[in-house]
Amino acid sequence: MYTRSLVVALAVQASFAVASPLFERAVDFYSPSARGGSMLDNAGSGEGEPLNIIISGLSSSTVLDDAGFLNFARAIGFSTECFGIHIGDPQSANLGDGNGPVNQTIELRQDFGNANTGTCLESLLGGNHFRMYRQNGSLADSGALFLATSKEEDVTEGHTIVPDGYDIGRNELVAAAVGTTSFGGVTYSTMARNITGLLAPGSAGVNHGIAQDGIVTLLTVTII
Ligand SMILES: *[C@@H]1O[C@H](CO)[C@@H](O)[C@H](O)[C@H]1NC(C)=O
Ligand SMILES: *[C@@H]1O[C@H](CO)[C@@H](O)[C@H](O)[C@H]1NC(C)=O
Ligand SMILES: *[C@@H]1O[C@H](CO)[C@@H](O)[C@H](O)[C@H]1NC(C)=O
Repeated sequence: MYTRSLVVALAVQASFAVASPLFERAVDFYSPSARGGSMLDNAGSGEGEPLNIIISGLSSSTVLDDAGFLNFARAIGFSTECFGIHIGDPQSANLGDGNGPVNQTIELRQDFGNANTGTCLESLLGGNHFRMYRQNGSLADSGALFLATSKEEDVTEGHTIVPDGYDIGRNELVAAAVGTTSFGGVTYSTMARNITGLLAPGSAGVNHGIAQDGIVTLLTVTII
């Protein structure tokens, strides 16, 4: 009995090893707080925005590099900022991977259906936007991407977050991503799972004092 289950376990392990190419990552992500990081970024105000979406390190590897991630973001309705005009200072995050605080890799805005000029509309009208941080330091090299997602007011409101804007921004991005999407000839299949216990619910330490529900949605994005 013992011997048989051991043999089965070894067989399963062997077939798994054969089936997974060496370059594939092994985990969804590592919890930043395990090594001195935080699920809130640093907005420079003494507070931070919640890192409320994680793109799993088990996603297709090209989705996790800058060009591949930008293509995926376009598939779900985001684009680079209006003509490269950047509103606001970069924010930093410590993902507990040994890199310490690192500025956002990229900041993207909802493009309202036009990948070239739509983000200018977002800048005027308000809409969804996110900052992306990559967990790739040697202490926690998952390759996962952490997104601080929020929905903003229009420009007359000075680009502040709408009430409940962190949860709404997360839910809208996830709704746009789940299922099958495509852009630039690449088709994605995306699955979502909610995780609690990583990010404390409430408004303590949260930028603009806007409470959020503490849910982090893990997206696993597979190129099909
Ligand atoms: C982030 O960017 C700002 C502005 O470009 C810069 O002053 C700051 O040193 C950077 N912070 C980190 C942690 O790299
Ligand atoms: C880790 O990610 C950062 C931010 O995206 C990037 O600048 C850096 O080159 C990456 N490091 C490695 C070793 O890939
Ligand atoms: C995650 O939680 C949000 C907020 O409660 C909910 O709207 C969404 O349906 C949940 N998603 C999944 C995949 O459970």
